[in-house]
Amino acid sequence: MAYIVDLRSDTVTKPTESMKHAMVNSALGDDVFGEDPTVNALESKVANLLGKQAALFVPSGTMANLIAIMVHCNKRGSEAIVGNCSHIYKYEQGGAAHVAGVLLSTMQNKPDGTFDLQELEKRIRGSDIHDPITSLVAIENTQNYCGGKVLPLQWIDDLSDLCKKHSLPLHMDGARLLNASTYLAVPPERIVRGCDSVALCFSKGLSAPAGSALAGSYHFIQQARRMRKMLGGGMRQSGVLAAAAMVALDEVAPALALDHKRARTLAKVIEGLFLKTFSVDVESQHTNMILVRIAERSPLRAEQVLNRLAQVSLAETQGDCKTPNDEGVIVKAICFNDKTIRLTLHREILDTDLWLAIMKITFVFKELEAANPLVQS
Ligand SMILES: Cc1ncc(COP(=O)(O)O)c(C=O)c1O
Repeated sequence: MAYIVDLRSDTVTKPTESMKHAMVNSALGDDVFGEDPTVNALESKVANLLGKQAALFVPSGTMANLIAIMVHCNKRGSEAIVGNCSHIYKYEQGGAAHVAGVLLSTMQNKPDGTFDLQELEKRIRGSDIHDPITSLVAIENTQNYCGGKVLPLQWIDDLSDLCKKHSLPLHMDGARLLNASTYLAVPPERIVRGCDSVALCFSKGLSAPAGSALAGSYHFIQQARRMRKMLGGGMRQSGVLAAAAMVALDEVAPALALDHKRARTLAKVIEGLFLKTFSVDVESQHTNMILVRIAERSPLRAEQVLNRLAQVSLAETQGDCKTPNDEGVIVKAICFNDKTIRLTLHREILDTDLWLAIMKITFVFKELEAANPLVQS
């Protein structure tokens, strides 16, 4: 048996004991009739937190984004502009096209998660009979594929001005918005002030078992409620889930800074190994994620590194790379592409797990570098 440190995603976090207690003890009703007091309380709390008129509890982040697209792009022939690294574009099965009949048009994301606003302005279309009608711009904060990057406030404000100038709604996929707010030390309401709608997930670093919220104007949420029902997301006594989400906001959100701090420690350790094969950009590590890049000149591929991190060799257990109980250590991570690994810190990774992960990663990275010299260019 090996000891597993799971750094694949913050979605692996399980509900806390106080969440479970709240789930069992919360007041319930039929939410499709608008009668679940716990869901109603959560929706008010989120609307307040995000400075919007209303909010809606939905089963997942994917559904929150899809509903936002469907409400904003309610004319046939609509186009939504998103970053080419966005979750909406890369990981939601093209739901915008599949379900909503909306064309997704992509802007090239820069490494900081933003895109060029002058270029965006040129891309807005609809006046010519040949064009689709640009009906929405969507951004992601934190930007997952860029390594949990926090979008600069000024950039969001400038984008919001541009969208207003062109009467375009702006949606934020804020699955990890509270990580952004923690990093910037500003309230979430300030970050999303210029956005017409916001999606927020409870089941990532916030550790709730399921659920997201979508926030916006009364009118937007009224339409979103209809769409949720049509997509099969109208739940009944969903207060059992909303209760956990309430605890997530009250008790887990204030501790997100610890995940960021541990991610920074791990990033600094990897940087401090001074390896030629593996690198991290410590300065651009904002929140709970770290991207480890494998040098282009290395024959190694990300998949091989993940496979090695998931094995325990004799040398490890004969040396120091083990738990105090003599168990070998497995680190689980994910690869974003052939040359990039993502490590994600979360509530279940405390300092002891962090140090086991550091030991294992150090051992494996050194071993792999020694066995796979860089190819001469
Ligand atoms: C940025 C972002 N948006 C949306 C989602 C989708 O959330 P869900 O898995 O709840 O559908 C994710 C999931 O990881 C995400 O990282």
